[in-house]
Amino acid sequence: MSARNADTLIVGGGIIGLSIAWRLARTGHRVTVLERDTAGAHASRMAAGMLAATAEVGYEEFDLYALCTHSVIRWASFASELEEDSGIPVDFRSEGTMVVARDPDAARALRRAFEFQQEHGFEVQWLTRAEALEREPFLSPRIAAAVYAADDHSVDNRAVIHALVAAIRKLGGRVEEQTAVTEITMDASGSNHHVRTAPGNTEWTAPQIVLAAGAWSHGVPGLPDEVRPPVRPVKGQILTLRMEAPFKLEHVVRGARAYLVPRSDGRLVIGATSEEMGFNTELTAGGMWSILDGARELVPGVHDLPVMETNVGLRPGSRDHQPIVGWSAVPGLFVATGHYRHGVILSSATADAAADALLGRDMPTIMHPFSPTRFQTQA
Ligand code: GLY
Repeated sequence: MSARNADTLIVGGGIIGLSIAWRLARTGHRVTVLERDTAGAHASRMAAGMLAATAEVGYEEFDLYALCTHSVIRWASFASELEEDSGIPVDFRSEGTMVVARDPDAARALRRAFEFQQEHGFEVQWLTRAEALEREPFLSPRIAAAVYAADDHSVDNRAVIHALVAAIRKLGGRVEEQTAVTEITMDASGSNHHVRTAPGNTEWTAPQIVLAAGAWSHGVPGLPDEVRPPVRPVKGQILTLRMEAPFKLEHVVRGARAYLVPRSDGRLVIGATSEEMGFNTELTAGGMWSILDGARELVPGVHDLPVMETNVGLRPGSRDHQPIVGWSAVPGLFVATGHYRHGVILSSATADAAADALLGRDMPTIMHPFSPTRFQTQA
């Protein structure tokens, strides 16, 4: 057995764990990320990279909307600081998002959402069919209307993962890949928590542990039962096409059954199903059909594009579908999981807030509604 230590150990090397590690490493903090696979191999890699505060948040989700808005504003500097630290570009795109209604029924539903958003100060603009087509000529001429969300952006989530790993390592932090946590032992007196990993049977010691294991957060061995977060996997099937001239989508396009996210290198990511299938990661004909059909009715030109990749990811969905971020009831254990459909967008605000907490400062108030203790209180 070998022994190692750190100021903070992060269990889980997805976009959330890596972002927290990067913000900590910037301060000279000794941080180690423990990842049983390769960094970002699961939901973080399969995501589309939408930074969609407006298009993805539902009615009455005011706290989440405030957090997503704060996060997306933060993303512009987060991306440029990350590019600077890592030397890797992350394709932050700010063309905005078009939320599209395919027919008059869908347009009525979209109008209700638009009026609600306007009433609450969201930055949205109603577009007639002609206005929408002028802005995005590859939309179908059959659509009914659209809403333009100017502040909903996108980023290349895979480039972000590479950049985070590179930046953490450059700054002296560690990202231990292929390193599975076999047991966490929380020290009741509070300062010497242990994490055992395999292969190699290493015992890590640290005063602070961050639980950021995404859809796997509930099952990490050794966690005290009272702080196991109520997180389950929510399956998402997604695929990537290659845009070929003359086809070129400029904006993120979102409809009721699919979204399309263009990358500057010509990839077009189309997602995603949302399925309650436990840890099943099988790609299905029905899953692919539903997102392709949903995408094609809004943007018919996708029909002829070559398929580059198909993927399945597992989002970490909490009981109330809101993230779980904050100190748990067990001293020294910080939780950052349950980001569900919002992992990429919320990585910036989560990393800032977690770094504050782990460096001994107060968490920003915008993060208070997402404390893990909300579930303990209900229990
Ligand atoms: N944020 C998009 C998704 O989870 O599918």
